[in-house]
Amino acid sequence: MSFETIAWQDGKVKMLNQLLLPAEIRYELYDDFRQVAEAIRKMVIRGAPAIGIAAAMGIAQGALTLPNEREGFLKGLEEINAVMAQTRPTAVNLFWAIDRMKRLTLRLLEEHDVAGVKERLVQEAERILQEDIEINRRIGEYGAQFVRDGDTILTHCNAGALATGGYGTATAVMRIAKEQGKKIRVLADETRPYLQGARLTAWELMQDGIDVELITDNMAGHFIKAGEVDLCIVGTDRTAANGDVANKIGTYMVALAAHANDVPFYVAAPTSSIDLSLEHGSGIPIEERSAEEVTRVGNTVIAPTGVRARHAAFDVTPARYVTAIITENGVASPPYPFTLAPLVRKND
Ligand code: MRU
Repeated sequence: MSFETIAWQDGKVKMLNQLLLPAEIRYELYDDFRQVAEAIRKMVIRGAPAIGIAAAMGIAQGALTLPNEREGFLKGLEEINAVMAQTRPTAVNLFWAIDRMKRLTLRLLEEHDVAGVKERLVQEAERILQEDIEINRRIGEYGAQFVRDGDTILTHCNAGALATGGYGTATAVMRIAKEQGKKIRVLADETRPYLQGARLTAWELMQDGIDVELITDNMAGHFIKAGEVDLCIVGTDRTAANGDVANKIGTYMVALAAHANDVPFYVAAPTSSIDLSLEHGSGIPIEERSAEEVTRVGNTVIAPTGVRARHAAFDVTPARYVTAIITENGVASPPYPFTLAPLVRKND
């Protein structure tokens, strides 16, 4: 890739600042876990898998600063985990990463001293990053079978390299299809209000020479109905055991339009984005962000001063509108209550 979403660099967490893209390519270096948490909250880094990786690195960084005495270390780690857990509620990868780091710590402490555990936490965070890139490639390999030569794919938000350790989930399917010699075209929804589609997906696909056209969110239904879209592929922040999919606000409307026009609607997701503890999507916490992100576009105010506004950042698409869920362990088709869990449990 021509850019790095996130990396561990000499004890610091390095992130491409996604608030500035595409106007400016600037990397931030954070040497305090609180800064990493703030970067997640402010969306310097965003996208469910990338949030998980950032949290793991932040935890590793915070752990390095803790005392080498066992009790103080464990207490400090709990505090760091609590700060991370407060950043963004919907992406389950955040909680998955916190849990993975915590379980590893407790296991290692049975045999090692705290100094040794700290070193292993850094290695684990780096491993989560490397694994994520490999997982995405596997998602792409499973997903490319659904893409035919000449297809137009509609995507929403950014489920790309910028939302992951690299390569992306939905974009992995596009990348592998292209590697297989298929000619594809992508319609990218701009994704109000944060504009992940316009600012990030369009930029990232152009970097990779993938044919992309930008549309506003309210054009998606029109192009789907007009027969211009062969399939939709999106990512997810959290998918429940029954296949209900939480993803960026606006995904539900895309799924409805796809369903009404017999266009397949695929979700590309690492198994770390599947939350088997939730039976239905109704249990998924939906982040509400600041109304200012709706009343402004960038720094430009677009609404009357004082108007009240709402900003739900995610919606839940019912499983019945989801054609298949493409994971690194294979493809789940309905009925999801029977097909999703076995794919997640393959990791055990
Ligand atoms: O608010 P964001 O930008 O973090 O939301 C990101 C999305 O909704 C993505 O589609 C999702 O995290 C999947 S990324 C592979």
